[in-house]
Order: sequence, then structure tokens, then C-alpha cells
Amino acid sequence: MKTRSDKRPIGIFDSGVGGLTVFKEIKKELPRENIIYLGDTARVPYGIRSPEIVMKYSFENAKFLMSKGIKILVVACNTSSSISLPSLVENFPVDVVGVVAPGARAAVARSRKKKIAVIGTETTIKSGSYAKAIKAIDKSIVINGIACPLFVPLVEEGWTKGNIMTLTAKKYLSPLKKFGADVLILGCTHYPIIKDVIAGVVKIPLIDSAAETAKEVRRILEERKILRHDSGKPKVEFFVTDAPEKFVQIGERFLGQTISNISKVNIDIL
Ligand code: DGL
Repeated sequence: MKTRSDKRPIGIFDSGVGGLTVFKEIKKELPRENIIYLGDTARVPYGIRSPEIVMKYSFENAKFLMSKGIKILVVACNTSSSISLPSLVENFPVDVVGVVAPGARAAVARSRKKKIAVIGTETTIKSGSYAKAIKAIDKSIVINGIACPLFVPLVEEGWTKGNIMTLTAKKYLSPLKKFGADVLILGCTHYPIIKDVIAGVVKIPLIDSAAETAKEVRRILEERKILRHDSGKPKVEFFVTDAPEKFVQIGERFLGQTISNISKVNIDIL
């Protein structure tokens, strides 16, 4: 019997360019899928905003992607996932996958000492989302969350190595030694880009939420039998709410490949 092929795209949104780390993992895990990526570059960063605003933006992004006929919604942004995932799941008629639960699950599986550290934006850490997701699996685990707000601008500036990056990482992460975690979750889209620097400071295994999320997306598409099986080249489209040239410039560095097929969407139609 011929397997049905579902051509509908995977929809991914992020506050901007950072979610390309999740896009990259999904592309690696599911190379035949059509993908639509929305970066809300007009309103980035989300990580310093209030939960109410992050919720509003997340809903608008989700609505835009739904209007494109997606088969699954991936919330690549850790801040959006932390704040709005349950509401998105409740309000949209497709599977919605965030980055928090897959990252939390992988960390729990890896930790022996039951002490897990997580780093992210201010809003992510304040939300306690990773702590909640981890405690839901194992109440006895102790979690230490640290906000690292300077990592995002440094990565976007391309200062991913060298003194400034290393000193910043040491300043944020040195307190973790005393805590004694045996696993660190990279709870922000930008952090996989600087994982070598982070690993050099903390010297414990890192959990990359992006990679774990891609595996989760594959599992859902397989389970629902909605994979695309066509051998033809898949279509990838990028949408941003402002400054496509800047997105391309930074995004190509994130992805290590060229970005084409990008359009600007009018914020008013979101
Ligand atoms: N995408 C955000 C996150 O993963 C980082 C950038 C921002 O603050 O918007 O939390």
C-alpha cells in the first residue's frame, strides 16, 4: 500500500533569528518536510518582556502560521514556550510543540545527582517553566535557574568567542559550581551557538533543547502518520516582521548556509 504523504508545512515561530537553531535541528531530523519559519524581528527581544505581552505576540504569530495551513506548530522561542504553551495548545487545532518539555525530559534522563541547572532569558527563568516541567517528572530534583541576558546580544553581534564572551559566561555561570548540578539546560534559542564556551566554564553535560525538540516533532509526525514522503525538493519559506536583510545576515551565520525565499509580513495583519 502506498503511504500517504502530507505536504502541509511544519510551522515554526520565534521572536527573531534565534529560532533558526531549532529550524536547523528540525531540518536535520526531517529533511523532506516543507517548513515555514516566522521570526518576529519587529518585536524582538521577548526575553525582557512581561508575560502578557509575550502571550499576545505568541498568539499573533501562531495565527499567522495557521493561516498558512501548517500541520504542526513549533514554538522555537524558549520565552514564548515558557509563557504561552498551555494556552496555544488549548486554542489551536494542531499539535503544538514547545522547547521546554523536551529539554526538561532529556535533562531528567541525564541527571544522576538530581541537581539540574537551567539558563535562559529573564522572562523564561522568572516563569519557572523548566523547574515546573522537571518537577512534574521527578519532584525530588533540585533546580537552579540563572538568567543570562547578555548572551543574546553578544551572539547576535557575532561575539561568540574571545575574552568578552568568556568573561561574561564566567560571571553568569561560576555560581553553578557551588550548586553542584550535573546537567545544564540551554534554555534559550541562542545558547547552542556558544555551547563550547559554556561547556568550557561549567564542565558538565549540556542539554540542547533545540535538538530534543526536533526529535519530539518527528515522533509526533510519525505517530500521526502525517510525514511528507515525496522525493521532490521540500519548500522552505521564511517570514519576518521587520528588516529581512538583517535576518539574512545574522541567520546565515546561525545556520551556516544561505537563506533565500524570505518575505516581510505586515505586523498589522498578524
Ligand atoms: N528566542 C528567545 C528565547 O529563546 C531569545 C531572544 C529573545 O529574548 O527574544 O528565549
